[in-house]
Amino acid sequence: TDQYALIGNPLSHTKSPLIHETFAGETAQSLTYVAIEAEAFAPAVDRFRAQGGKGMNVTAPFKLDAFAYATDLSERARLAGAVNAMRFEGDRVFAENFDGVGLVNDIQRNLGFELKGRRVLILGAGGAARGALLPLLEQNPAQLVMVNRTLEKAQALRQQFADVENFTIMTYADLVGERFDIVLNATSASLRGDLPPVPADVFSPQGLAYELAYGKGLTPFLRLAKGAGVHQLADGVGMLVEQAAEAFLWWRGMRPDTRGLIHKLTIPLV
Ligand code: ATR
Repeated sequence: TDQYALIGNPLSHTKSPLIHETFAGETAQSLTYVAIEAEAFAPAVDRFRAQGGKGMNVTAPFKLDAFAYATDLSERARLAGAVNAMRFEGDRVFAENFDGVGLVNDIQRNLGFELKGRRVLILGAGGAARGALLPLLEQNPAQLVMVNRTLEKAQALRQQFADVENFTIMTYADLVGERFDIVLNATSASLRGDLPPVPADVFSPQGLAYELAYGKGLTPFLRLAKGAGVHQLADGVGMLVEQAAEAFLWWRGMRPDTRGLIHKLTIPLV
């Protein structure tokens, strides 16, 4: 039986073992998937590999450690500056980042919003926002605007996409009078019950407001969007399941169905 694991700390609320065990059952794959709450990254990964482990997912606070540990980084992982999935083959550690593609798949396939030709706003320039950039830009939005409290961080990211014309950096103050089809909250503000200083009129009622965090219910960001009349609100539970499906496909060569699981894990946003 092939062994997989999630490494992170803390992991008390993780849904990943349930997700991967469900995928394994659905695709009739024989594998185990455990959560490893580690104090230190490299020794725990070394141990798991020595026991024959085939692959790992990586979550906070180890995504940068995994980036450093990898021997072979994908383009997505390199541009994200972070790793959320690893595959072990002998001495080689292949590393990927499926967070952004999970987000894009959730937006387009599950929620039914095309990104192509749309105006998209992303709040934040930390790890979550950085991982989403390349996959979002690959869908050819009319414009992708990134805002961040600390402008320099967004400007530094912008430089990595020097030749991309539809990618713009703004300040929160610049957003007054701007309107977007899709607004993504990739800040960590919601984790503390805070609201980024985004004006309520950036939302389109026919558009989508998406909170990348999950399991927090109606966050201040989603409440603002709801108050602005946005009819489609989402949190990151779909992104979580979709990134897991991408990792599963990469490891096992089979794409599991995600719909039922997303439905099961969704907490109503009320
Ligand atoms: P993550 O990996 O979750 O993205 P991170 O890399 O620490 O975490 O990044 C957190 C992001 O949330 C940053 O963009 C941060 O803005 P700064 O770069 O200016 O610090 C943003 N953020 C956190 N709290 C915020 C708040 N109350 N208002 C606006 N932005 C906030």
